[in-house]
Amino acid sequence: MADRARVLMCPPTHYEISYVINPWMREELGNTSALDAMREWEGLRFALSVLADIEVMAAQPGLPDLPFTANAGLVLENVFVSSRFKNVERRGEEAHNIAWFEAQGFEIRALPETITFEGAGDALFDRAVPRLWMGYGHRTDLAAASALAMLLSVETIPLGLVDPRFYHLDTCFCPLSRGHVLYFPAAFDAAARAAIEARIPAQQRIAVDEADALTFACNAVNIGDVIVLARASAVLRAALENAGYRVVETPLGEFLKAGGSAKCLTLRVDEARAVDSARLAVLEGTD
Ligand code: ARG
Repeated sequence: MADRARVLMCPPTHYEISYVINPWMREELGNTSALDAMREWEGLRFALSVLADIEVMAAQPGLPDLPFTANAGLVLENVFVSSRFKNVERRGEEAHNIAWFEAQGFEIRALPETITFEGAGDALFDRAVPRLWMGYGHRTDLAAASALAMLLSVETIPLGLVDPRFYHLDTCFCPLSRGHVLYFPAAFDAAARAAIEARIPAQQRIAVDEADALTFACNAVNIGDVIVLARASAVLRAALENAGYRVVETPLGEFLKAGGSAKCLTLRVDEARAVDSARLAVLEGTD
């Protein structure tokens, strides 16, 4: 049996909306409930603890978005590529994240200083082949794509994001374990849609409608055959079940106010390099 997944989370002890750096936060300044946020976060932690070991990083006063651990950086094997936030409001998180990964024995790497990069919020490994999908245009710079490809020796596909409500790749795109992608096509520019369509066959593309996109259905945590998300319509649930997944819903409305949901609140810290089974078959002479 494969090792259990390991997921990093950070409790919303100091979570609040005290600044506006995306459209979701605009109407929500000072409008979160600490109790509800903690209850929802515990619900997510409980749902995920069935599937993964949860590592918990200490919350810090003055860093209200720290619970969105997806933005800490990008993990591949023993390497941690730390984020460089676009918005000054989140830059204080960088040192805490680096310290946590250093203490865990990760090799810390960074992109060149002029490049912004928001970690696993904008960089998602394909689950089926060795490939990194990278969103750019709102937070992460396009230049991060070639820098990551070099740093991690992985093919990196940059995807242009065009809708400010879907400002991180993980708000509108989720690669799934059986090779599918769950995504909201209208959040991407034409070149990005073409890049996705060129690599993922039509029957493997699960497009969500705007209503599911706006409740952040694409911001899902997929471990094995299970998909944990805040909410899925009946139509989306059926599509995912038909594709072989089990769907678990856990409410995360307090975090949607900040523009986040299930996936943003987590970071896989046991990211292995995907095996290129097509190339392996050639090497083994079994294709
Ligand atoms: N308020 C945070 C921000 O705008 C939310 C981050 C959500 N994280 C994510 N991976 N999408 O930066």
